[in-house]
Amino acid sequence: MKIFSGISNKPLAQKIAKELGIGLSPIEIHVFPDGEKRVRVLEKVVDEDCVVVQPTSPNPDADYMELFFIVDALKRNGAKKITAVIPYLGYQRQDHVFRSGEAVSLEVIIKTLEAVGADKIVTFDLHSIKIPELFHIPVVHLSALPIFAKKIKKMSMVNGQWSKVVLVSPDMGGIRRIKQLSEILDHVPYATIEKNRDLKSGKIEASVVHGTVKKQVIIVDDMISTGSTIVVAADLLSKNGAEEIFVFATHPVFSKDAHTVLQKSKVKKVFATDTITVPKEKEFPKLEVISVAGMIATSLSS
Ligand code: R5P
Repeated sequence: MKIFSGISNKPLAQKIAKELGIGLSPIEIHVFPDGEKRVRVLEKVVDEDCVVVQPTSPNPDADYMELFFIVDALKRNGAKKITAVIPYLGYQRQDHVFRSGEAVSLEVIIKTLEAVGADKIVTFDLHSIKIPELFHIPVVHLSALPIFAKKIKKMSMVNGQWSKVVLVSPDMGGIRRIKQLSEILDHVPYATIEKNRDLKSGKIEASVVHGTVKKQVIIVDDMISTGSTIVVAADLLSKNGAEEIFVFATHPVFSKDAHTVLQKSKVKKVFATDTITVPKEKEFPKLEVISVAGMIATSLSS
């Protein structure tokens, strides 16, 4: 197997390669003055199983274009099978038409990935479990929930009891995720918040909690973008009696000033994974990053 990395998350690609006991294969990615890229694989790939690691954040459009070019280069040079490891699949929130007149952006991405020659996709915690059905190639949909569960158990279980803990989904769309985590954690109680987002302004409101708020709250989400969902949820939970609020979110998209917003929020600690690399300038004291490299390596080698 040969592993190639785009530029979006080389540290993760290196960790995956290390777990597999191999090095990253060389690739040249040249950026022209106008921003266009030229990609060239620098190793023979004829009849090889090739893997490309490229989450599509922080620059979804540029990251996707680069991924398409790498897959194309591998295909043209005779790779037998190309697995695209896209730990964070950008555009996944645009998987259907919300308002008439809209494009279905995720479908465009899927068609292109398949057309350039990807044979298989490995990804993490998709926004909707229906997304793999939109592909015509196999999709391995991994989840960070088992890793989160281990951490939560260590942090919050006292004498085998969950007495002061509740898991919370910050929106109704996360119910399946929170139920799944509750099951892994021997049915720890859970609650959900009713969130509304104005599609035009992006403004978020949350006013109702379904379930009982306890002293320690663990908010679980698939991703943090601007941080607004978490801040609004934490404020509401704190008004309802939460004293200690932790967040577990798979994808640290961290757009705009999310890092500052989260640091200033009522949240005590934010746990996220390295599906997306967090640049130095966006790190903040309350953040702890957990690696998913081992899970990806296991999936690639099985
Ligand atoms: C939305 O449904 C997702 O699960 C996340 O809650 C959302 O994308 C987070 O976005 P933001 O951090 O901008 O509120």
